[in-house]
Amino acid sequence: MDSASLNALSEHVLADIRRPPLRAFPIEELADVYSCEPSDVLFAIDSLRRAGYKVDADPKGRFKFVSAPDLLLATEILYGLKTEFIGRRVYAYQSVQSTNIIAAQLAEAKAPDGAIVVAESQSKGRGRLGRSWHSPEKKGIYLSIILYPDIEPAAAPGLSVMTAVSLAGTITGYVTKDVNIKWPNDCLIDGRKTAGILTELSADRGKTNHVIVGVGINVNHARRDFPPEIVKTATSVGREAKREIRRVELLQKFLSQFEKDYLKFRKGGLKGLRKQIVAYSNLIGKQVRLDMSGQIISGTVTDIDDYGNLVLITPAGPRRFNAGEVTVVKSK
Ligand code: BTN
Repeated sequence: MDSASLNALSEHVLADIRRPPLRAFPIEELADVYSCEPSDVLFAIDSLRRAGYKVDADPKGRFKFVSAPDLLLATEILYGLKTEFIGRRVYAYQSVQSTNIIAAQLAEAKAPDGAIVVAESQSKGRGRLGRSWHSPEKKGIYLSIILYPDIEPAAAPGLSVMTAVSLAGTITGYVTKDVNIKWPNDCLIDGRKTAGILTELSADRGKTNHVIVGVGINVNHARRDFPPEIVKTATSVGREAKREIRRVELLQKFLSQFEKDYLKFRKGGLKGLRKQIVAYSNLIGKQVRLDMSGQIISGTVTDIDDYGNLVLITPAGPRRFNAGEVTVVKSK
């Protein structure tokens, strides 16, 4: 588990040289500002370059910021982030087993509400229903959001549905094809899975301690980046948009959308998001088969309720479900 961060002097130098309007900085000026030796500034600029920043030097030895890398570094995520509290504290890693595991440990240690854990790759990315989440290096966004909502544990699955709405709303801005939610929490472009959500809850005697919202987004995956078993059913935002997507920008947009939706959710559950849920999930009135770990239930979808449950009219009468794999049998 290697953390991905810049040292303090590199952070300061970067903040100064990238501030608009861009200009060339004499090394002595920067050394003066930080009361250090010019060699320290050189070292800091070298670290920035090694991290992927482009910094030009002119013949007079002045340094000018050119571009930032598309890396999920705390500095990059925070630069231009427009949220109040979601993503305001970033724990960034090169590679981890699972960002959800780290986030749960940080939540136990009382990390701030809305703090996020991101990684450039995961060796044991976790999916729903005991599956794994393929997490190739620097292709996707592997993110966990730490939350302490004042909700009863039964309302936590609603957070997954809410997150799916935030994802669909964000991804829609990148592609022309249809973006949908596959209840409860997959996000699809043109029917192919692009993002998934794994919400994990810690609760004691009916009280929620914390919720970790884990989000995996396929961003710049090409066909070859998917394992054979999902290559036909998965896609990425970049493939569908037919261009390389800046992951940092997509992440910032998603965090803003997530914060707006989460504030609504905290006020009134899924009520304020019903329109989007119904529109994106496209299931109301459809006859479906619900696979709950091998137990198959057939029925017609009449609603997705305020807890995010799928409401089905089954041969045994109306029933509510908070998990399972849904397949549309035929449209009414
Ligand atoms: C699914 O569709 O099955 C849910 C996938 C969730 C994957 C994300 S990636 C970041 C976070 N860390 C994990 O180990 N899983 C979630």
